[in-house]
Amino acid sequence: MNRDEALELVKSRVENKNLVKHMLSCEACMRGMAKRFNENEEEWGLAGLLHDLDYPETVNDPAKHGYVTVEMLRERKVNEKILDAILAHPGHKKPETLMEKSLYSVDPLTGLIVAAVLMHPEKKISYADTEFIMRRFKERRFAAGANRDQIAAISETGVSLEEFVGICVQSMKEIAAELGL
Ligand SMILES: [Fe+2]
Repeated sequence: MNRDEALELVKSRVENKNLVKHMLSCEACMRGMAKRFNENEEEWGLAGLLHDLDYPETVNDPAKHGYVTVEMLRERKVNEKILDAILAHPGHKKPETLMEKSLYSVDPLTGLIVAAVLMHPEKKISYADTEFIMRRFKERRFAAGANRDQIAAISETGVSLEEFVGICVQSMKEIAAELGL
């Protein structure tokens, strides 16, 4: 599956524009992390772009979240490495590979970054930097739904939390227009 096919699939199944933006954010961050690790940007991007594909139908049944996506993508012959990362993101398997660990931590970080940008008077990601996001990270009550332990687990990959935040902020800045931020 190439990127255009993946985006078409996302748009055909996910009506909620904010959820599509979330998936685009995760795609951008995963590509940024792939570059950092010298890994395959296309594959990592697909893991980010597709990871919440089944959200509309599993929102009330979180035990199925991820499994439904994997079934859909397996029929379309998507690489099993990507499917494993998608299964690991809601905790159906322990994140082990760099791709799995990255998606696991990217997912909540994108939400924290968006929440932080929206509290800034300009509401523009161009004003955000690592320091700004790290301050919000440390305010545990701010965007409390963004699981800090899950974000901080990125350090298991050998990349520090600060570097990770910097890569993700930069990656999301590159698609600011698409995100409306
Ligand atoms: Fe997600």
